[in-house]
Amino acid sequence: MANFQNPSSNPLHFSHLTGHRAVCGFGFALVFLCCSLLLACGPESSSPVVSAGASAASGDTQPANASLSLIAQVGKKLFFDKSLSASGAMSCASCHDPDRAYGPPNALAVQLGGSSLDKAGMRAVPSLRYKLVVPAYSNELVDPDGAGAPAPGGGFGWDGRADTLAAQAGMPLLSRFEMANATPEAVVSKVQAASYAPLFLQAFGKLALADGAKAFANISEALQAFQKEDPSFRPYSSKFDLYNSWVTVT
Ligand code: HEC
Repeated sequence: MANFQNPSSNPLHFSHLTGHRAVCGFGFALVFLCCSLLLACGPESSSPVVSAGASAASGDTQPANASLSLIAQVGKKLFFDKSLSASGAMSCASCHDPDRAYGPPNALAVQLGGSSLDKAGMRAVPSLRYKLVVPAYSNELVDPDGAGAPAPGGGFGWDGRADTLAAQAGMPLLSRFEMANATPEAVVSKVQAASYAPLFLQAFGKLALADGAKAFANISEALQAFQKEDPSFRPYSSKFDLYNSWVTVT
């Protein structure tokens, strides 16, 4: 069974906090006070608040370079590549904006896509954060917290129809109201023409773009690897995570 433990409960993820312990280490009764002080002066508090709908050129800011595997590096290139859409103006990041927790870039209920960017989608864009441990859909998914009876859950998409991030990644590339490529081969030929094609071959092998179906599977795998490996998809920077780390280290 999958392990659902929140990585934030691992003190190693918050080793930078230990310096504060000396200041606030007056015993358990003061933990809450210390937490409030930390929250008041923590890095989060200096971030500007961005109003909903304030985004113009959304999805263009890439996360800082992390140490990614070769395959995940390819995935990062793919994720931000607008040429992979029929319109030539839409990448994954256009709808899943890194500056908005990989959620929608504006206040629209659904995004506009398709070859002329005029086709409304049917569903709201979910955030892509914290999707590292999502089991496949099941009608009787066991509640990881043990708080309730088994219930429908799991999978990617609002209805859970994709079992893995890789299975999901192919869908928007081909959806007629999203990136709107007619066939998987159309996507592959765009990757063949991309500046990062040599990186793709380096990651997946010299003949990786020769067979359309295999190449499309590699594209999906690379997008999955980027989403799984890049820490920007799981910052664990909320007040709850900070509190959780304190409970763990004190
Ligand atoms: C036009 C906007 C749009 C684009 C472009 C787009 N997505 Fe999405 N994405 C959505 C919507 C809407 C959903 C919800 C779909 C559903 O439930 O059927 C979604 C769902 C997802 C999910 C499932 C998340 C969850 O919580 O279950 C993942 C993962 C994802 N997209 C990744 C990608 C990747 C990778 C790309 C690029 C190849 C991409 N998306 C391009 C709009 C978009």
